[in-house]
Amino acid sequence: MTQGQPTGLDRRGFLRAVGITGGAGAMFATMGALGLAPTAQAAGRGGDFRAPSTADFHLTGRRAGKVVVLGAGLAGLTTAYELGKAGYDCTILEPRDRPGGRNYTVRGGDTHTDLDGRTQTAAFSQGQYLNAGPARLAQWMVTLDYCRELGVPIEVFTNSNADAYIYHESAGMRPGQPVRYRTAKADTFGYVSELLAKATDQGALDQELTAQDKERLLSFLEDFGEIGGRSDGWAYAGGANRGYATWPGAAGTPGALLGDLPTASEVFASGVGRHFAFEFEFDQAMLMFQPVGGMDRIPRAFARAIGDHRIRYACQATSLVQSAGGVAVGYTDPGGRPRRIEADYCVAAMPPHLLARLTHNLGPDVQTALTTIRPSSAGKIGLEYRSRWWETDHRIYGGITETDLDLSHIWYPSYGHHGRRGVIVGYYNTGSNADAYAALTPAEREARAVMQGVKIHGEKYRSELSNSFSIAWKRVRHLEGAWHSIPGGTDAAVYKPLNEPAGRVLYAGDWLSYMDAWQHGAILSARKAVTALHSRALKA
Ligand code: ALA
Repeated sequence: MTQGQPTGLDRRGFLRAVGITGGAGAMFATMGALGLAPTAQAAGRGGDFRAPSTADFHLTGRRAGKVVVLGAGLAGLTTAYELGKAGYDCTILEPRDRPGGRNYTVRGGDTHTDLDGRTQTAAFSQGQYLNAGPARLAQWMVTLDYCRELGVPIEVFTNSNADAYIYHESAGMRPGQPVRYRTAKADTFGYVSELLAKATDQGALDQELTAQDKERLLSFLEDFGEIGGRSDGWAYAGGANRGYATWPGAAGTPGALLGDLPTASEVFASGVGRHFAFEFEFDQAMLMFQPVGGMDRIPRAFARAIGDHRIRYACQATSLVQSAGGVAVGYTDPGGRPRRIEADYCVAAMPPHLLARLTHNLGPDVQTALTTIRPSSAGKIGLEYRSRWWETDHRIYGGITETDLDLSHIWYPSYGHHGRRGVIVGYYNTGSNADAYAALTPAEREARAVMQGVKIHGEKYRSELSNSFSIAWKRVRHLEGAWHSIPGGTDAAVYKPLNEPAGRVLYAGDWLSYMDAWQHGAILSARKAVTALHSRALKA
């Protein structure tokens, strides 16, 4: 232990005192400095990040300066939180009345007015919510480290579910009939295994494989595809992996396998196989997680740790001017009055296309970089039901039904199982499908989503519906986009003025990372800005 630090009981009393006077954030920073608290790690997952510390300033004669942060999304919050650990005097300007940006959990009573002047007030029941923005976290994501550090409880988010459906209207195995994910998967893997086993056994791969390799591959395919052996000609003839028409039960009830086995040709023509790669994806593989009670538990915990007084809500930045000695940011306060704040540094953590609209003197290269990145569309609707018929009638507990309809994906809730009510994500779509729903009124969106969902789930999809809330991210004020198209990738030369800024303005956001559309990306980008700012401040 470093000399001068309190020990034992003294140390606990000391921390209590820090907590009382400085709030949770100060206490946490102090605990970190004492080596008592974990610091969000991302070893091997986001580079080596060392949180700035007040100790870094010892002997330098420098001080932690003032920083103004534009935006209380995940990037802005991470910036203020990490800089706060070293005593920087951070102020966040946030145009909304809440932290989180795209991390938006909608609960009953929440009101939202979009850019088209459409106002919705959510009528979700107590305990029900829609994560309108981010909704799932991979285990390797640094976001989970912050959940641990900030004390945000998490639970499993079910991203793939063998009992959810695939519904292809245009070219399904049985067009217009839902098929269970497990059935589509068994049939696809079965026929692929049969073909590969036949080709292997007939010598088609003799150039590639030794005799021993071939036997091992064949043995793998027998299991993987649930196919017959050599004496059966490696044929796929269905099996238990597809599911049952009558479940096996007590003695006397062996069960009856699901019939109606499609042909290989029907399976390949259906295109169901395109959904299976999803569950192998680096950022989408099970297990995934969500905060208990809503994704916004994360920004709210950040805001508490930073100190709520440091976030100026309903304050919209209008101008950003940097000089040799600092920055000046113009903004409007909650009453619409023009205000100004000066600081040593600014971290601009708002959407690039909106940042480009500020009056600024950042130069043409910065402006070009900001406007090269373009916002993308996505939309969601939360449908609250009076009963959890998908659990009782369909035996689906969480996960996603995949479709070729314009609603794309339907999500079943990964919380509240066996409760009375529940919120289904009735569509989660992107691009032109999202734009099509965005053009509708909320009532029309609901009607369209329900009309489509009935085809898959039957009449209860309509009759049990209680209320809905929808979001079209391109039409959300202060964001105007869900995520981004980043031509050339984030390290393209055009973005150098943002990635390696020369002046007193630094930039952060998922749009400056290889993990756009993930909080993980926003956090890592913010950490990069924090490290750059801190090293500059130590030398200044
Ligand atoms: N990260 C976003 C998602 O998981 C795109 O859907």
